[in-house]
Amino acid sequence: MADKPTKGLADVVAASTALSDIDGKAGRLFYRGYDIHDLAGRATFEETAYLLQRGKLPTRQELADYNTELHDGRELGALVAQNVEEIAEKQKPMEALRSLVSLAGADDPDKDSIAPEANLRKAARLVAQQPVLVARYHHARTGSAVPDPDPELSIAGNFLLQITGRRPPRRHIEIFDECLVLHADHTMNASTFAARVCAATLSDMHSAIVAAIGTLKGPLHGGANEQVMKTLESIEPGKVAQTVRDKLAAGEKIMGFGHRVYKTEDPRATHLRKMSAELAEASGDDTYYRMSKEMEEVVFEAKDLYPNVDFYAATVYHYLGIPTDLFTAVFSVSRMSGWTAHVIEQHADNRLIRPDSEYIGERDQKWKPIDER
Ligand code: ACO
Repeated sequence: MADKPTKGLADVVAASTALSDIDGKAGRLFYRGYDIHDLAGRATFEETAYLLQRGKLPTRQELADYNTELHDGRELGALVAQNVEEIAEKQKPMEALRSLVSLAGADDPDKDSIAPEANLRKAARLVAQQPVLVARYHHARTGSAVPDPDPELSIAGNFLLQITGRRPPRRHIEIFDECLVLHADHTMNASTFAARVCAATLSDMHSAIVAAIGTLKGPLHGGANEQVMKTLESIEPGKVAQTVRDKLAAGEKIMGFGHRVYKTEDPRATHLRKMSAELAEASGDDTYYRMSKEMEEVVFEAKDLYPNVDFYAATVYHYLGIPTDLFTAVFSVSRMSGWTAHVIEQHADNRLIRPDSEYIGERDQKWKPIDER
């Protein structure tokens, strides 16, 4: 059995990357060699996206030029504008983003090239446009006008402004910016792998990102943050321990817990837990934070499982005023920086990704004409 493929490709090295690295036993995460604990709360999301896509931390001038590129790249193409209302009416957020990114690809000036320079430009535009697509979608479905972006605000600031319709407090912008940094890249997670498989056929960046968005959507991956909030909303505050135990006894998975790689605390959860506590206290109602802490204790006691990135992200986004059904879309706003960097990396040193499979079906079957079966 030793040479049989592992179900779920656990522990299989599927690509080489210089983008991020995880030490699952020690609970550590690095972007291009920088510890996430050094970056979180210090580097901005724009700096982090530059680091991932362009290979080094930017100087002040490089960051200013990149910000100009992001600012200019926010403009959405005609196909998106023509279709966003119908899409908002018929599709849920992650389905809509899958459609909208595909449509955005049609109007991208570099759509026919996967050359390195074209890829860098597209990567910046995709990072710039993803928060705008989420905001356009959200306002199209609610029939409201998207607030104008403020050129003085960062991606984090403008996203909160455009989603909530209010100028966000400075601390909310800082916290959300840190969330974007924490979610930016994470080695060979399912959506990144999907993007790389697509890119490795020498398909274009937008196609690879569409594959990634479809993959992030699932509840075992990015969709977990929305499910965490729904679970918290469905439990009576005084019945957390019993409800969680009942769910576990029934063989249910508790969303926001467990990880394929981390065997200890996910380092991103450490930051998100603190942010959730701070926002809960500032909001004057810390019910969901207290319930989350209790869930964490019960799940650890029963299953030795730690919260993953999605667990405390849920309450952080809730306290920031983001609608629950947009939580996974928020994840995509950040992960766009990592996905695009992986596509650049894949195209730069490509080989088709084509694993093998273990055949478990019938053999030596004899074909019979349809009337003899
Ligand atoms: N709740 C209860 N039990 C769990 C959980 C959970 N959240 N996670 C794992 N387990 C149990 C499984 O039931 C299984 O138990 P068993 O061996 O007795 O059957 C064991 O732990 C191993 O679980 P697998 O699903 O095989 O572990 P895998 O490495 O394949 O999965 C995953 C990792 C998918 C993240 C899993 O922990 C899970 O489903 N978690 C809930 C969904 C979630 O939070 N996803 C977000 C992950 S982070 C991200 O993608 C951004």
